[in-house]
Amino acid sequence: MVVASAPGKVILFGEHGVVYKGGKAIAAAINQRSYASVERRGDGHVLIQSDLGISREPVDKAVGLANEFDSAVEASRKTGDYAPLRSLYESEPMRLGPAKMIAGRVARDEKVYDGFTIHINTRVPSGCHRGTSSSVGAAEAGGLLACLDRFDVRRVDELAYAADRMIVGSPSGIDSTVVTYGGVVTFTKGEEPKQMNIPSLHANGGLHLAVADTGVRVDTGKMVALVRRTLNERPEKGRLIGEMNRIVEEGVDVLKSYDLSRAGLLMNHNQWILRSLGVSIPRIEDACSIALRAGAYGAKLTGAGGGGSVIALAEHPERIVETWRTHGFDADVVACGAENGVRVENGLRRSMF
Ligand code: MEV
Repeated sequence: MVVASAPGKVILFGEHGVVYKGGKAIAAAINQRSYASVERRGDGHVLIQSDLGISREPVDKAVGLANEFDSAVEASRKTGDYAPLRSLYESEPMRLGPAKMIAGRVARDEKVYDGFTIHINTRVPSGCHRGTSSSVGAAEAGGLLACLDRFDVRRVDELAYAADRMIVGSPSGIDSTVVTYGGVVTFTKGEEPKQMNIPSLHANGGLHLAVADTGVRVDTGKMVALVRRTLNERPEKGRLIGEMNRIVEEGVDVLKSYDLSRAGLLMNHNQWILRSLGVSIPRIEDACSIALRAGAYGAKLTGAGGGGSVIALAEHPERIVETWRTHGFDADVVACGAENGVRVENGLRRSMF
Protein backbone atom coordinates (compact mmCIF):
# COMPACT_ATOMS: atom_id res chain seq x y z
CA MET A 1 0.00 0.00 0.00
CA VAL A 2 1.21 3.50 -0.84
CA VAL A 3 0.16 6.65 1.00
CA ALA A 4 0.56 10.03 -0.69
CA SER A 5 -0.41 13.46 0.55
CA ALA A 6 -0.79 17.00 -0.79
CA PRO A 7 -1.45 20.33 0.94
CA GLY A 8 -4.34 22.76 0.68
CA LYS A 9 -3.66 26.34 -0.39
CA VAL A 10 -4.48 29.99 0.04
CA ILE A 11 -4.34 32.64 -2.68
CA LEU A 12 -2.40 35.58 -1.28
CA PHE A 13 -3.03 37.96 -4.20
CA GLY A 14 -4.73 37.87 -7.59
CA GLU A 15 -7.66 35.40 -7.50
CA HIS A 16 -10.13 35.69 -10.38
CA GLY A 17 -7.74 37.88 -12.42
CA VAL A 18 -5.57 34.78 -12.89
CA VAL A 19 -8.36 33.01 -14.78
CA TYR A 20 -7.78 35.31 -17.78
CA LYS A 21 -4.82 35.16 -20.20
CA GLY A 22 -1.92 37.15 -18.76
CA GLY A 23 -3.62 37.26 -15.32
CA LYS A 24 -1.27 36.78 -12.37
CA ALA A 25 -1.61 35.49 -8.82
CA ILE A 26 0.47 34.32 -5.87
CA ALA A 27 -0.60 31.22 -3.94
CA ALA A 28 0.90 29.35 -1.02
CA ALA A 29 0.59 25.78 0.24
CA ILE A 30 -0.79 25.50 3.79
CA ASN A 31 -0.09 23.09 6.63
CA GLN A 32 -3.40 21.27 6.21
CA ARG A 33 -3.12 18.21 3.93
CA SER A 34 -5.13 15.51 2.18
CA TYR A 35 -4.09 11.85 2.21
CA ALA A 36 -4.75 8.98 -0.18
CA SER A 37 -3.81 5.36 0.38
CA VAL A 38 -3.74 3.25 -2.76
CA GLU A 39 -3.48 -0.50 -3.29
CA ARG A 40 -3.82 -2.68 -6.37
CA ARG A 41 -6.72 -5.12 -6.12
CA GLY A 42 -6.68 -7.85 -8.75
CA ASP A 43 -10.47 -8.13 -9.20
CA GLY A 44 -10.78 -5.47 -11.93
CA HIS A 45 -12.67 -2.98 -9.76
CA VAL A 46 -11.99 0.53 -8.52
CA LEU A 47 -13.09 1.03 -4.94
CA ILE A 48 -13.05 4.62 -3.71
CA GLN A 49 -13.82 5.58 -0.15
CA SER A 50 -13.80 9.18 1.03
CA ASP A 51 -15.77 11.55 3.27
CA LEU A 52 -18.17 11.87 0.32
CA GLY A 53 -19.10 8.19 0.25
CA ILE A 54 -18.01 4.84 -1.08
CA SER A 55 -18.17 3.48 -4.63
CA ARG A 56 -17.07 0.21 -6.23
CA GLU A 57 -17.19 -0.15 -10.00
CA PRO A 58 -15.42 -2.10 -12.75
CA VAL A 59 -12.23 -0.42 -14.01
CA ASP A 60 -13.88 -0.18 -17.45
CA LYS A 61 -16.45 2.24 -16.05
CA ALA A 62 -13.74 4.51 -14.60
CA VAL A 63 -11.87 4.37 -17.92
CA GLY A 64 -15.16 5.16 -19.72
CA LEU A 65 -15.65 8.22 -17.52
CA ALA A 66 -12.05 9.35 -18.22
CA ASN A 67 -12.65 8.99 -21.98
CA GLU A 68 -15.96 10.83 -21.81
CA PHE A 69 -14.33 13.60 -19.79
CA ASP A 70 -11.44 13.95 -22.26
CA SER A 71 -13.90 14.24 -25.17
CA ALA A 72 -15.91 16.85 -23.25
CA VAL A 73 -12.71 18.86 -22.60
CA GLU A 74 -11.86 18.73 -26.31
CA ALA A 75 -15.37 19.87 -27.26
CA SER A 76 -15.38 22.68 -24.67
CA ARG A 77 -12.07 23.97 -26.06
CA LYS A 78 -13.79 24.47 -29.41
CA THR A 79 -17.11 25.83 -28.15
CA GLY A 80 -15.93 27.75 -25.05
CA ASP A 81 -18.87 26.14 -23.20
CA TYR A 82 -17.67 24.36 -20.06
CA ALA A 83 -21.12 23.31 -18.81
CA PRO A 84 -20.78 19.70 -20.14
CA LEU A 85 -17.77 19.16 -17.84
CA ARG A 86 -19.81 20.24 -14.87
CA SER A 87 -22.72 18.02 -16.01
CA LEU A 88 -20.43 15.00 -15.87
CA TYR A 89 -19.50 15.99 -12.30
CA GLU A 90 -23.12 16.39 -11.29
CA SER A 91 -24.23 13.14 -12.92
CA GLU A 92 -21.81 11.01 -10.88
CA PRO A 93 -23.23 9.76 -7.55
CA MET A 94 -21.77 11.28 -4.35
CA ARG A 95 -19.61 13.71 -6.32
CA LEU A 96 -16.96 11.02 -6.70
CA GLY A 97 -16.56 11.71 -10.44
CA PRO A 98 -13.19 13.53 -10.18
CA ALA A 99 -11.68 10.69 -8.08
CA LYS A 100 -13.07 8.07 -10.51
CA MET A 101 -11.86 9.98 -13.54
CA ILE A 102 -8.30 10.20 -12.11
CA ALA A 103 -8.29 6.45 -11.43
CA GLY A 104 -9.68 5.79 -14.92
CA ARG A 105 -7.06 7.94 -16.61
CA VAL A 106 -4.19 6.29 -14.73
CA ALA A 107 -5.56 2.78 -15.44
CA ARG A 108 -6.00 3.63 -19.15
CA ASP A 109 -2.66 5.41 -19.62
CA GLU A 110 -0.67 2.79 -17.70
CA LYS A 111 -2.71 -0.11 -19.15
CA VAL A 112 -3.32 -1.49 -15.66
CA TYR A 113 -6.79 -3.01 -15.45
CA ASP A 114 -6.61 -5.11 -12.29
CA GLY A 115 -8.17 -2.39 -10.14
CA PHE A 116 -7.34 -0.16 -7.19
CA THR A 117 -8.55 0.40 -3.65
CA ILE A 118 -8.32 4.10 -2.86
CA HIS A 119 -9.00 5.61 0.57
CA ILE A 120 -9.04 9.40 0.72
CA ASN A 121 -9.24 11.68 3.72
CA THR A 122 -8.57 15.35 4.03
CA ARG A 123 -7.75 17.80 6.78
CA VAL A 124 -8.33 20.72 4.44
CA PRO A 125 -11.76 22.05 5.43
CA SER A 126 -14.04 21.53 2.46
CA GLY A 127 -15.94 24.29 0.68
CA CYS A 128 -13.71 26.98 2.23
CA HIS A 129 -11.82 27.81 -0.98
CA ARG A 130 -8.64 26.36 0.49
CA GLY A 131 -7.99 24.02 -2.44
CA THR A 132 -9.62 20.88 -1.05
CA SER A 133 -10.48 19.38 -4.44
CA SER A 134 -6.99 20.00 -5.87
CA SER A 135 -5.38 18.70 -2.71
CA VAL A 136 -7.45 15.51 -2.74
CA GLY A 137 -6.88 15.08 -6.49
CA ALA A 138 -3.11 15.51 -6.15
CA ALA A 139 -2.90 13.10 -3.19
CA GLU A 140 -4.89 10.47 -5.12
CA ALA A 141 -2.91 10.97 -8.34
CA GLY A 142 0.38 10.83 -6.40
CA GLY A 143 -0.72 7.63 -4.64
CA LEU A 144 -1.86 5.91 -7.86
CA LEU A 145 1.29 6.81 -9.79
CA ALA A 146 3.59 5.85 -6.89
CA CYS A 147 1.74 2.56 -6.49
CA LEU A 148 2.65 1.79 -10.12
CA ASP A 149 6.19 3.13 -9.64
CA ARG A 150 5.40 6.02 -12.01
CA PHE A 151 5.43 8.95 -9.58
CA ASP A 152 5.91 12.15 -11.55
CA VAL A 153 4.95 15.62 -10.27
CA ARG A 154 4.00 16.96 -13.70
CA ARG A 155 1.51 14.15 -14.17
CA VAL A 156 0.16 14.76 -10.67
CA ASP A 157 -0.38 18.42 -11.57
CA GLU A 158 -2.13 17.44 -14.85
CA LEU A 159 -4.42 14.93 -13.12
CA ALA A 160 -5.32 17.30 -10.26
CA TYR A 161 -5.98 20.03 -12.84
CA ALA A 162 -8.25 17.69 -14.80
CA ALA A 163 -10.20 16.96 -11.60
CA ASP A 164 -10.58 20.72 -11.00
CA ARG A 165 -11.80 21.18 -14.58
CA MET A 166 -14.55 18.67 -13.95
CA ILE A 167 -15.72 20.72 -10.96
CA VAL A 168 -15.02 24.30 -12.04
CA GLY A 169 -15.08 24.16 -15.86
CA SER A 170 -12.26 26.58 -16.68
CA PRO A 171 -10.02 26.99 -13.63
CA SER A 172 -6.73 28.85 -14.06
CA GLY A 173 -4.62 25.90 -12.84
CA ILE A 174 -3.06 27.78 -9.94
CA ASP A 175 -4.65 25.52 -7.31
CA SER A 176 -3.43 22.23 -8.76
CA THR A 177 0.02 23.76 -9.36
CA VAL A 178 0.55 25.08 -5.83
CA VAL A 179 -0.71 21.92 -4.12
CA THR A 180 1.53 19.81 -6.37
CA TYR A 181 4.73 21.83 -6.04
CA GLY A 182 4.20 23.36 -2.57
CA GLY A 183 5.84 26.51 -1.18
CA VAL A 184 4.84 29.87 -2.64
CA VAL A 185 4.05 29.94 -6.35
CA THR A 186 3.69 32.87 -8.72
CA PHE A 187 1.39 31.91 -11.54
CA THR A 188 0.64 33.67 -14.80
CA LYS A 189 -2.04 32.09 -16.97
CA GLY A 190 -0.39 30.71 -20.10
CA GLU A 191 3.16 30.69 -18.65
CA GLU A 192 5.30 28.28 -16.62
CA PRO A 193 4.68 28.73 -12.86
CA LYS A 194 7.58 29.84 -10.68
CA GLN A 195 8.34 28.89 -7.11
CA MET A 196 9.43 31.79 -4.88
CA ASN A 197 12.35 31.49 -2.52
CA ILE A 198 11.66 33.61 0.57
CA PRO A 199 14.36 32.93 3.20
CA SER A 200 12.59 34.88 6.02
CA LEU A 201 9.42 32.90 5.45
CA HIS A 202 11.27 29.59 5.78
CA ALA A 203 13.18 30.83 8.83
CA ASN A 204 9.79 31.46 10.51
CA GLY A 205 8.35 28.06 9.56
CA GLY A 206 5.99 29.75 7.10
CA LEU A 207 3.96 32.90 6.94
CA HIS A 208 1.45 32.59 9.77
CA LEU A 209 -1.97 33.84 8.74
CA ALA A 210 -5.21 34.07 10.67
CA VAL A 211 -7.92 32.30 8.65
CA ALA A 212 -11.65 32.58 9.30
CA ASP A 213 -14.39 30.43 7.80
CA THR A 214 -17.42 32.55 6.88
CA GLY A 215 -19.56 29.40 7.00
CA VAL A 216 -21.01 30.30 3.59
CA ARG A 217 -20.47 27.73 0.82
CA VAL A 218 -20.49 28.62 -2.88
CA ASP A 219 -19.05 26.75 -5.85
CA THR A 220 -15.87 28.20 -7.33
CA GLY A 221 -17.34 27.59 -10.81
CA LYS A 222 -20.33 29.82 -10.03
CA MET A 223 -18.11 32.65 -8.78
CA VAL A 224 -15.80 32.39 -11.81
CA ALA A 225 -18.87 32.52 -14.09
CA LEU A 226 -20.23 35.53 -12.17
CA VAL A 227 -17.02 37.53 -12.66
CA ARG A 228 -16.85 36.54 -16.34
CA ARG A 229 -20.43 37.80 -16.80
CA THR A 230 -19.69 41.04 -14.92
CA LEU A 231 -16.65 41.72 -17.11
CA ASN A 232 -18.69 41.02 -20.27
CA GLU A 233 -21.56 43.26 -19.21
CA ARG A 234 -19.41 46.03 -17.72
CA PRO A 235 -16.22 46.16 -19.87
CA GLU A 236 -15.02 49.24 -17.95
CA LYS A 237 -14.37 46.89 -15.00
CA GLY A 238 -11.66 45.17 -17.05
CA ARG A 239 -9.17 47.72 -15.72
CA LEU A 240 -9.60 46.13 -12.27
CA ILE A 241 -7.89 42.99 -13.56
CA GLY A 242 -4.92 45.10 -14.70
CA GLU A 243 -4.83 46.77 -11.30
CA MET A 244 -4.85 43.38 -9.59
CA ASN A 245 -1.92 42.26 -11.77
CA ARG A 246 0.03 45.27 -10.52
CA ILE A 247 -0.78 44.26 -6.92
CA VAL A 248 0.57 40.79 -7.64
CA GLU A 249 3.79 42.22 -9.13
CA GLU A 250 4.28 44.41 -6.07
CA GLY A 251 3.32 41.44 -3.89
CA VAL A 252 6.30 39.50 -5.25
CA ASP A 253 8.73 42.26 -4.11
CA VAL A 254 6.99 42.75 -0.78
CA LEU A 255 7.08 39.04 0.03
CA LYS A 256 10.74 38.77 -0.98
CA SER A 257 11.64 41.64 1.35
CA TYR A 258 9.21 40.22 3.92
CA ASP A 259 7.63 43.61 4.54
CA LEU A 260 4.46 42.46 6.28
CA SER A 261 2.89 45.88 6.78
CA ARG A 262 3.15 46.63 3.03
CA ALA A 263 1.86 43.15 2.27
CA GLY A 264 -1.16 43.96 4.46
CA LEU A 265 -1.86 47.18 2.53
CA LEU A 266 -1.75 45.22 -0.72
CA MET A 267 -4.18 42.68 0.70
CA ASN A 268 -6.63 45.48 1.57
CA HIS A 269 -6.30 46.90 -1.94
CA ASN A 270 -6.82 43.43 -3.42
CA GLN A 271 -9.95 43.02 -1.28
CA TRP A 272 -11.29 46.35 -2.54
CA ILE A 273 -10.91 45.10 -6.13
CA LEU A 274 -12.58 41.77 -5.34
CA ARG A 275 -15.47 43.66 -3.76
CA SER A 276 -15.76 45.80 -6.90
CA LEU A 277 -15.86 42.61 -8.98
CA GLY A 278 -18.85 41.45 -6.91
CA VAL A 279 -17.34 38.44 -5.11
CA SER A 280 -17.40 39.77 -1.55
CA ILE A 281 -20.41 39.37 0.76
CA PRO A 282 -21.30 41.08 4.08
CA ARG A 283 -19.93 38.17 6.14
CA ILE A 284 -16.55 38.53 4.37
CA GLU A 285 -16.60 42.31 4.88
CA ASP A 286 -17.37 41.78 8.60
CA ALA A 287 -14.47 39.38 9.01
CA CYS A 288 -12.11 41.85 7.27
CA SER A 289 -13.24 44.82 9.41
CA ILE A 290 -13.00 42.82 12.65
CA ALA A 291 -9.46 41.71 11.74
CA LEU A 292 -8.35 45.26 10.87
CA ARG A 293 -9.85 46.67 14.08
CA ALA A 294 -8.00 43.94 16.01
CA GLY A 295 -4.71 45.18 14.56
CA ALA A 296 -4.19 43.13 11.37
CA TYR A 297 -1.96 44.67 8.69
CA GLY A 298 -4.46 43.56 6.09
CA ALA A 299 -7.31 41.17 5.38
CA LYS A 300 -9.03 39.76 2.31
CA LEU A 301 -11.09 36.88 1.04
CA THR A 302 -9.01 34.08 -0.44
CA GLY A 303 -9.97 32.00 -3.46
CA ALA A 304 -13.29 32.33 -5.20
CA GLY A 305 -15.18 34.39 -2.60
CA GLY A 306 -18.95 34.52 -2.25
CA GLY A 307 -18.25 32.85 1.12
CA GLY A 308 -15.40 30.52 2.04
CA SER A 309 -12.38 31.86 3.91
CA VAL A 310 -10.92 35.23 4.88
CA ILE A 311 -7.19 35.57 5.57
CA ALA A 312 -5.58 38.23 7.76
CA LEU A 313 -1.92 39.12 8.09
CA ALA A 314 -0.88 40.33 11.55
CA GLU A 315 2.06 40.53 13.93
CA HIS A 316 0.04 38.33 16.32
CA PRO A 317 -2.35 36.25 14.17
CA GLU A 318 -3.60 34.31 17.21
CA ARG A 319 -5.11 37.55 18.56
CA ILE A 320 -7.09 37.98 15.34
CA VAL A 321 -8.26 34.38 15.63
CA GLU A 322 -9.44 34.96 19.22
CA THR A 323 -11.31 38.12 18.23
CA TRP A 324 -12.94 36.36 15.28
CA ARG A 325 -14.04 33.53 17.55
CA THR A 326 -15.72 35.97 19.94
CA HIS A 327 -17.69 37.16 16.89
CA GLY A 328 -18.80 33.61 16.06
CA PHE A 329 -16.31 32.79 13.30
CA ASP A 330 -14.62 29.42 13.12
CA ALA A 331 -10.97 30.51 12.90
CA ASP A 332 -7.40 29.22 13.11
CA VAL A 333 -3.81 30.13 12.42
CA VAL A 334 -2.36 28.40 9.36
CA ALA A 335 1.30 28.37 8.33
CA CYS A 336 1.62 28.95 4.62
CA GLY A 337 4.40 28.80 2.08
CA ALA A 338 6.74 26.43 3.93
CA GLU A 339 4.75 23.29 3.17
CA ASN A 340 5.91 20.62 0.69
CA GLY A 341 3.77 19.81 -2.30
CA VAL A 342 2.66 16.30 -3.17
CA ARG A 343 4.73 13.61 -1.53
CA VAL A 344 4.75 9.91 -0.94
CA GLU A 345 4.51 9.31 2.78
CA ASN A 346 5.88 5.76 2.77
CA GLY A 347 8.71 4.92 0.41
CA LEU A 348 10.31 7.32 -2.02
CA ARG A 349 9.87 11.08 -1.64
CA ARG A 350 10.07 13.36 -4.62
CA SER A 351 8.60 16.81 -5.08
CA MET A 352 9.48 20.34 -6.15
CA PHE A 353 10.33 21.54 -9.64
C1 MEV B 1 -8.71 29.77 -7.28
O1 MEV B 1 -8.58 29.25 -5.98
C2 MEV B 1 -9.66 30.87 -7.34
C3 MEV B 1 -9.99 31.49 -8.68
O2 MEV B 1 -8.95 32.37 -9.10
C4 MEV B 1 -10.26 30.46 -9.75
C5 MEV B 1 -9.04 29.90 -10.47
O3 MEV B 1 -7.95 30.48 -10.41
O4 MEV B 1 -9.21 28.84 -11.09
C6 MEV B 1 -11.23 32.29 -8.46
